[in-house]
Amino acid sequence: MATRLFPLSNYQILSPSTKFFSAFPQTITSKATTPKMEVSGITEKQESKKKIFVAGATGATGKRVVDQLLAKGFEVKAGVRNIEKAKNTFSNNPSLEFVKADVTEGSAKLAEAIGNDSEAVICATGFSRSWDLTQPWKVDNLGTVNLVEACQKTGVNRFILVSSILVNGAAMGQLLNPAYIFLNVFGLTLIAKLQAENYIRKSGINYTIIRPGGLKNDPPSGNIIMEPEDTLSGEAISRDQVAEVAVEALDIPESSFKVVEIVSRSEAPKCSIKDLFASIKQH
Ligand SMILES: NC(=O)c1ccc[n+]([C@@H]2O[C@H](COP(=O)([O-])OP(=O)(O)OC[C@H]3O[C@@H](n4cnc5c(N)ncnc54)[C@H](OP(=O)(O)O)[C@@H]3O)[C@@H](O)[C@H]2O)c1
Repeated sequence: MATRLFPLSNYQILSPSTKFFSAFPQTITSKATTPKMEVSGITEKQESKKKIFVAGATGATGKRVVDQLLAKGFEVKAGVRNIEKAKNTFSNNPSLEFVKADVTEGSAKLAEAIGNDSEAVICATGFSRSWDLTQPWKVDNLGTVNLVEACQKTGVNRFILVSSILVNGAAMGQLLNPAYIFLNVFGLTLIAKLQAENYIRKSGINYTIIRPGGLKNDPPSGNIIMEPEDTLSGEAISRDQVAEVAVEALDIPESSFKVVEIVSRSEAPKCSIKDLFASIKQH
C-alpha cells in the first residue's frame, strides 16, 4: 500500500507559539423509554432524552459533536472552559446546557460538572497553542485521565475519546515519520495521548478510542476508512466525519472496547459506521 503523508498543515494544534464494569457493551440511544406510567387510567409511554457530556465542546471537533448529538435528539451538557465563548459558539437550544469544565482542574470538579444525569462522555479536548510545553501532558494525558476518573465517580460507564493516529508511532515503526517527530518535539503530544489511552483501556470503562488522521474543517470529500489501531500513518479526514463516528458509536454495540483509526478517501466504498466498527476486532 502506498504511504500517504500525514498532513502536518492540518494538525492545527501543533505550534510552538461504573457504575461497574459491564462485560456487555451498552449502547446509548437518544430516546430512552422509561417504564410505562399509569396516567388517568391510560397507560402511556414516557420518552426521555439521554444526556451526553461533551468535553472540549467549543473546539472545532467538539462543536460538531454537539451539533450532531442535538440533531439526533440527545440532550447535551457541554463542558467548556469559557461559558461566554460557548454562548457565542452555539445558538440557543433547550436541549443544550453549558457547564464549566477545565480538565486540568481535577476529577472532583469534573465529576460535579458531569453530574448524575449524564449517560456518556465524549472527549474532544486538545491542548491549546502555547509556549508552555507541559500543556499537552496536562490536557491530553492527565486531563483525559481526570475525566475518566470523574466518570467513575459519577457512575458514567461510557467514554468516547477523540485521539489521533500515530500515537503509537514508535511501536509501529514510524519513529522517523516527520509528523510523529514534530508532534512529540512540541510537548510530547502523541505520547501524552497514548498514556491517556492506556489508562482508559485499563480502567474498565466501556470505551471507544477514535484516532483520526489530519483534521480538516472542509465537509467530507470521501468516504470513511476505518482500520485497527497502529495501522495508519498518514492522510486526513473531515471533522464532520470524526464527529459522526463519535456520535454514532453511542448507538453501536460493536464500537465498545475498541481502538479505531479513521481517515477518508474518495475512492473508498461507502459503508455504514456500524459495519465499519463491526469489521474491527476487539482486543
Ligand atoms: N488537528 C489535527 O489535525 C488533529 C489530527 C488528529 C487528532 N487531533 C486531535 O483531535 C482532537 C480535536 O482536535 P480539534 O482540532 O478539533 O481541537 P480544537 O479545535 O483545538 O479544540 C480543542 C478543545 O479542547 C479544549 N481545551 C483545551 N484545553 C482544555 C482544558 N484544560 N480543559 C478543557 N478543555 C480544554 C479547547 O477549549 P477552548 O475552546 O476553551 O479553547 C477546545 O474546545 C484533539 O485531541 C486533537 O489533538 C487533531
